[in-house]
Amino acid sequence: MAELRPESMERITTPELAKAFIDEQVNAIKEQVGDKKVLLALSGGVDSSVVAALLIKAIGKQLVCVHVNHGLLRKGEPEQVIEVFKNQMDANLIYVDATDRFLDKLAGVSDPEQKRKIIGSEFIDVFAEEASKLDDISFLAQGTIYPDILESDGVKAHHNVGGLPEDLKFELVEPVKFLYKDEVRVVGKELGLPDNMVFRQPFPGPGLGVRCVGAITRDRLEALREADAVVRSKIGELTPVPWQYFCVIPDIKSTGIKDGKRYMGWAVVIRAVNTVDAVTATVPEIPFKVLCAMRDEIIATVPGVNRVLWDISEKPVSTIEWE
Ligand code: XMP
Repeated sequence: MAELRPESMERITTPELAKAFIDEQVNAIKEQVGDKKVLLALSGGVDSSVVAALLIKAIGKQLVCVHVNHGLLRKGEPEQVIEVFKNQMDANLIYVDATDRFLDKLAGVSDPEQKRKIIGSEFIDVFAEEASKLDDISFLAQGTIYPDILESDGVKAHHNVGGLPEDLKFELVEPVKFLYKDEVRVVGKELGLPDNMVFRQPFPGPGLGVRCVGAITRDRLEALREADAVVRSKIGELTPVPWQYFCVIPDIKSTGIKDGKRYMGWAVVIRAVNTVDAVTATVPEIPFKVLCAMRDEIIATVPGVNRVLWDISEKPVSTIEWE
């Protein structure tokens, strides 16, 4: 039976409450860890970023963060992790660009669950390899949050690639394990993390891998990453901002015309949804001029794309992701 959140624990809704939580956790971490070293897989998502910032505050360079870039992150994400944690917070950060390794393993694989499995197990292998190079680690920090404990037996996002090697027998440090997502965000803000990290939309562990439909190729993946950046910046300016919004690139080509000649190019799909729990989802209205602005920028700037579509399907019957 998993440990439950103490009933007396107040909901963290204000900067003052966040500050008190941070002070308490900094002391608890110092006490638990002493002068030993702690390892953390830092994805750049809200939970692992908040845990990293808490641990840096508590134990500084005794924390070793490993950021694995599987090549399926969104535009600018690895750069932001390095900028925030290495440059601004002076963290002990190991950056592993494992793009080639992941994309080589994924080459020719079109089954979505097979893709997820490959990404998940490759992530574990890369992380375990990095861990094995460090010989004096005693603790493993994890961004487990309370819904993980309630919904999946304490396993961090069970279908996520964030799951860690089970044979890494370290003692766990899980400072946000009794917090709900909204509380983690309040704490992250108080720790000084940038808004686009603290309030970022949910992003699947397998990343762009499940949005580059079918067998992933490097050129189609790059087109997706660029088109997705356009969609995120334009839809991100709307009020209210949808719960999740991104781009998908199906494995199809259609006809376009350039310099008077017909050619085959990719179509990209804009997807935006509102939901409370991701079990059902509706499609928010997006002003036509915003759709057109995205179309124009994508067509003008993303090589290989000659068609832009808008997915107006709701869940059910359509899932939020295409795979
Ligand atoms: P679907 O597509 O099932 O998505 O309607 C519901 C929510 O779950 C996210 N999702 C994933 N998250 N690993 C994750 O960590 C995954 O493999 C995965 N598949 C879907 C999706 O982005 C949406 O928020």
